[in-house]
Amino acid sequence: MDAARQGYYRAFGGAPGLDYLLSDFRVAMDARGLDGEIRRKGVAIELTTDGADHTIDADEDQLQQIVLNLVRNALAATPSAGRITVRIEAVPAAGEVWLVVRDTGPGIPPALADRLFEPFFTTRAAEGGTGLGLAVVRAIVREHGGAITASSSEGAEFTVRFPARSTGVG
Ligand SMILES: Nc1ncnc2c1ncn2[C@@H]1O[C@H](COP(=O)(O)OP(=O)(O)O)[C@@H](O)[C@H]1O
Ligand SMILES: [Mg+2]
Repeated sequence: MDAARQGYYRAFGGAPGLDYLLSDFRVAMDARGLDGEIRRKGVAIELTTDGADHTIDADEDQLQQIVLNLVRNALAATPSAGRITVRIEAVPAAGEVWLVVRDTGPGIPPALADRLFEPFFTTRAAEGGTGLGLAVVRAIVREHGGAITASSSEGAEFTVRFPARSTGVG
């Protein structure tokens, strides 16, 4: 078992909510050949959680599609020996659960941060990009009552904010 995989199980094993929904993330990546691409590029993938309750109302397959699209983009942008980080974080003050995917690629020019989500917007046409990945991601996120934003510091950072599941209490 490689180090990234161990980290994955440590971070996600048996945890509730979003963690549980993402628990077959590795399997899903394997099935789509992403694991091989990650290995070939020597990119490290790290999954972390703050250990809080990440329960949201979400369709598991669609959630999987969100993560896979964001990781696929991160992988395309990240040079060899780079790093992709997937973080799950509870933000109780906002009643939200965040899924943050960041990479060590070139980042996103501020002028493009909103346009990226438009259908057919791609800077990767030559590599077979369709420009549909982020449009689909945004549609799914909105169906779940959430929002997605892109920003850039060292690399690109995509933040998906989901409403935490209401307990019906209080
Ligand atoms: N992690 C990232 N780093 C830098 N640019 C990105 C990243 N993810 C997406 N982009 C930009 O957003 C565009 C649209 O992404 P997407 O909708 O997934 O379409 P595609 O991947 O087919 O180009 C990409 O062409 C690229 O310019
Ligand atoms: Mg894409």
